[in-house]
Amino acid sequence: MPEESDVAQRMEHLRKEIERHEYLYRIENNPEISDQDFDRLVEELARLEEEYPLFAKSDSPTRKVGDDRISGFATVRHRIPMQSLDNTYNEEELYEFDKRLRKLLGKDDLTYYVEPKIDGLAISLTYEKGKLVRAVTRGNGQEGDDVTANVRTIRTLPETLQGGKSVDLIEIRGEIYMTRWEFERINKEREEQELPRFMNPRNLASGTLKQLDPKVVARRKLEIVCYGVGAVEGTGFTRQHQLREHFEEWGLPTLERSWQVEGIDAVWEAIQELDQVRGDFSYPTDGAVIKLDDINGQKEAGSTSKAPRWSISYKFAAEQAETRLREITIQIGRTGALTPVAELEPVEIAGTMVSRATLHNEDEIRRKDVREGDWVVVEKAGEIIPAVVRVVEDKRPIHSKPFDFKARLDELGFDAERESGQAVWRLKGSDNPVRLRRQLEHFASRQAMDIEGLGKEVVKQLVETGLVKDIVDLYALRVEDLLGLEKFAQKSASNLVEAIAKSREADLWRFIHGLGIPLIGAEAAKVLAARFGSMGALMQTNAEALNEISGIGPKMTESLISYFSEQENTERIRRLYQEAGLKMESNLSGEAEGGPLAGKTFVLTGTLPDWTRDEARKRIEAAGGKVTSSVSGNTDFVVAGESAGSKLKKARDLGLQVLDEAGLRELLESSDRSD
Ligand code: IVH
Repeated sequence: MPEESDVAQRMEHLRKEIERHEYLYRIENNPEISDQDFDRLVEELARLEEEYPLFAKSDSPTRKVGDDRISGFATVRHRIPMQSLDNTYNEEELYEFDKRLRKLLGKDDLTYYVEPKIDGLAISLTYEKGKLVRAVTRGNGQEGDDVTANVRTIRTLPETLQGGKSVDLIEIRGEIYMTRWEFERINKEREEQELPRFMNPRNLASGTLKQLDPKVVARRKLEIVCYGVGAVEGTGFTRQHQLREHFEEWGLPTLERSWQVEGIDAVWEAIQELDQVRGDFSYPTDGAVIKLDDINGQKEAGSTSKAPRWSISYKFAAEQAETRLREITIQIGRTGALTPVAELEPVEIAGTMVSRATLHNEDEIRRKDVREGDWVVVEKAGEIIPAVVRVVEDKRPIHSKPFDFKARLDELGFDAERESGQAVWRLKGSDNPVRLRRQLEHFASRQAMDIEGLGKEVVKQLVETGLVKDIVDLYALRVEDLLGLEKFAQKSASNLVEAIAKSREADLWRFIHGLGIPLIGAEAAKVLAARFGSMGALMQTNAEALNEISGIGPKMTESLISYFSEQENTERIRRLYQEAGLKMESNLSGEAEGGPLAGKTFVLTGTLPDWTRDEARKRIEAAGGKVTSSVSGNTDFVVAGESAGSKLKKARDLGLQVLDEAGLRELLESSDRSD
């Protein structure tokens, strides 16, 4: 029996972790752990809540649907909320679900409908009199983001339902996804441009759908598949399987296969069959959704605060394999973050050879007690980075010792520290040669200062010869200095000196990104550059002001404040400005002509929360956009505030992009983003 205080602490830890991972998954589109690991955390918390109800919290993540709304889109309330589903990974729980439902409905045998579970993001499409009027994300289940203009870029989605005129209103529920080949195509393109790969198709689909500019969305092909309904007026259904027939008639993309079966044994068989064929579907699937076929029965069974009682999802386990962990190595990130990596005996999982897996951080290694030489279970779900799930303890070598992260860092000569409250170890001081090299490589990279000719090899030589001890030294390099290095001739040396000189003019965002401030990537750097315009202004700001900027989260604010509070950092920036002559100014939000919104037409309607309409107009015009008074097919964006009336309606009827004030602000800041 564990100590109660330990239990309470564990539950608090789980709640925090679950929320953090939900945020990474839904908002950042950049998960750290597999869905299955995530579900394991939720399961553990749910179990503890049941056992120790005293420590349970009413706002626990086990009781609510997550929230994936982001600012920038108008919010729309669903007529019927979009719930999530209870998950299970095992057969027993599936049988229990059936037993519960039979008891609840007082029936011996139930007819079920088994569908693939598509690994995308949920969407609600409203058709009025057969015409598509709105597409809204799940959001918090009650209300979501209006992404109509983006959804209209999906070529397979019909504007009008064939023969659907008589249906007054229908909310069609489905999933937006990206095919594996489109995902691969985009990643290949990114690799050619030396940009980091996207993690997996689901995250890329989600990130794409939430782009403010529909043109970006149109360039990346999204797909849709429909499987359910919310509110319905002017027609009706009695059976779940009829939906698919109607969808087909109306010309909506539907599920490739689904199974109408009697009883839970047949459900289990259908699930097995699905597992056999799902590799051929164009969408990624991670399980099956089991639904009661009888819609009256669904209504009778009802739902909990989170999920319906008439449906459950059965998730296929991520593919796992056992292999030996040869060694734990340490990877150094651009900010000097040290990430442990498991070097494995190569093993095939889900069709690919895996030889490395992430171990996340020191705490994860300790929690799983992963040791060098251990046999480990490695898992790969979808396109996610492989992870070590657990150690096979029976196979542990007799003389193995727990892995001491700190000792290993010392052995490797890393002078590192772990800040309190953080899981990450980071290299100390910029004079650390390994860190300096990573820092310079990042500073010079395409997505930062874009200094041609300053790649890994050159950086290595510059650091090893002591020519460069700090970023500032780059700007003092002369052709003669370089001539002494390997592979440098007069021409290449003068090219590099020139490229470095040219980078003095680089836009502020490149410089901010190039500094390698933890959590501040290119996107955040653009937001900051657009907002502050100069490095001086950014350095004088405070936490409150940063927190108000959409696109800058509290963790980023913390990171910025802490970065600028270190004298070493501010001194470097001062020298780069005064001695090296870097410009550190941004063109991101100014300049009417050829401004980021050039060629875009806006209509303003209703009362905005902070800006007057005139103010909004000036800002749009300053960024090169045009403001007109009437909505037409030529309008690109409608900015709607409170009590917006007929213009908003017309915009929706035409399927135009509707923004709120926050959305406009974000667009002003981000419209120059390359991606
Ligand atoms: S029906 C009341 N059917 O899974 C909830 N959902 O984990 C009805 N999903 O939010 C959902 N494939 O985004 C349903 N064939 C399918 C699905 C499916 C994927 C997603 C959906 C939902 C999530 C719940």
